[in-house]
Amino acid sequence: MAKTNEDILNRFKDVQEEQTVVDASKKIQVGIIGTGWIAEAHVKSYMSMPDVEIIAGADLVPGKAEEFFKRLGVENVQTFESHTDLLDSVELDAVSVCTYNATHAECAIAALNKGIHVMLEKPMSVTLDEAAEIMRAEKKSGKIISIGFQPRFDPNMKMIKKIVETGELGQVYYIQTGGGRRRGIPTPCGTSFIEKDTAGLGALGDIGCYSLDMVLNAIGYPKPLTVSGYKSNFFGTRPDYYPTHPEYAAKFGVDDFAAAFIRLEGGIVLDFRIAWAMNLDTPGDTLILGTKGGLRIPSTECWNGSVGGALKIYHDVAGSQVETEIPIINDDGPDLFDRKIRSFLDAIKNGGTAPVPTSQILYNQAIIDGIAKSAEAGMEIAIVIPEI
Ligand SMILES: NC(=O)c1ccc[n+]([C@@H]2O[C@H](COP(=O)([O-])OP(=O)(O)OC[C@H]3O[C@@H](n4cnc5c(N)ncnc54)[C@H](O)[C@@H]3O)[C@@H](O)[C@H]2O)c1
Repeated sequence: MAKTNEDILNRFKDVQEEQTVVDASKKIQVGIIGTGWIAEAHVKSYMSMPDVEIIAGADLVPGKAEEFFKRLGVENVQTFESHTDLLDSVELDAVSVCTYNATHAECAIAALNKGIHVMLEKPMSVTLDEAAEIMRAEKKSGKIISIGFQPRFDPNMKMIKKIVETGELGQVYYIQTGGGRRRGIPTPCGTSFIEKDTAGLGALGDIGCYSLDMVLNAIGYPKPLTVSGYKSNFFGTRPDYYPTHPEYAAKFGVDDFAAAFIRLEGGIVLDFRIAWAMNLDTPGDTLILGTKGGLRIPSTECWNGSVGGALKIYHDVAGSQVETEIPIINDDGPDLFDRKIRSFLDAIKNGGTAPVPTSQILYNQAIIDGIAKSAEAGMEIAIVIPEI
């Protein structure tokens, strides 16, 4: 009997997460490194967890950490002006590394070397070499390090992975992914995202890492082999881009657009584009083409790693070409940030593995690094994955 749309949809129903029961008798002592914008989301999440005490924090800007914890109403927190002072002075179980990209590696490695579990914000690092160094420190320490990709915990993202894994698309051979904003260079909190010394990477690292994770996680993170990359900075370097802060243009040291053609193990090609700013609303939906079916994942206007609308599978049923729409799942569980933090804490408490492991994100970083290097060289390059 031919499959109906209902039969097909039923195959994808069970993507909700199990809720964990939290044992609050043993508290996990947590520190926050970098108390800027995203640290607030980490602190609010930790504060909602009954088994966590935030006991220390650090920021390079004098007085910033103290003011941050005061503003958020977190009491009895020791504050420091560098991650090293914090790690040398306080005994912790875990830290959130919420610093700008350029100091991710040094902070994560220093914490692992002290035997502390790490929740590291995305992107994992600026370069592939740094990502490899983080993994070496992880291996030596035996501690958990999870990378802060909260979209992983979105039931719609899990659905994408499930559609691929159930074989509905057959053998995947071509992927188009990416996203972008017409105008969306992130400067509301100053210039840490646009200066080379702090950000290291622009749109490519900041939001490109989300697009790559969405599709690579769905298809099981195959090894990247070669890349031909391009990047540009036509918007960020224009003083008129920032009507209230024209001086930002001279500080802009990263990319605001990047594109690439990447070959992956298994004969899969990946066509990628990402923009903080462009003369277009979106660079297109994400498409996954397979031998049995194709999947369209609508883009969002402000690309931040979420699904922009109902997914659509294009396939043949009983000889007819049909489209199956998979509606957006709006579950009423915890928000994605809380899920990301909870999964990290559960892995620590239960001796589990990292929910978003470095072994996968190494390939994400290898592609980003490859795009940057290929763009600079002006030619296709081989991606060499370092030994860990
Ligand atoms: N997961 C998400 O949704 C999400 C959202 C926004 C940002 N991020 C990521 O979070 C990171 C931080 O972003 P942000 O917007 O909070 O940046 P930010 O510039 O507002 O804050 C970073 C802070 O880290 C501090 N810092 C840097 N190096 C330090 C060190 N060695 N020791 C102590 N403090 C140090 C800086 O002084 C600054 O106050 C970035 O890597 C970004 O990609 C993630």
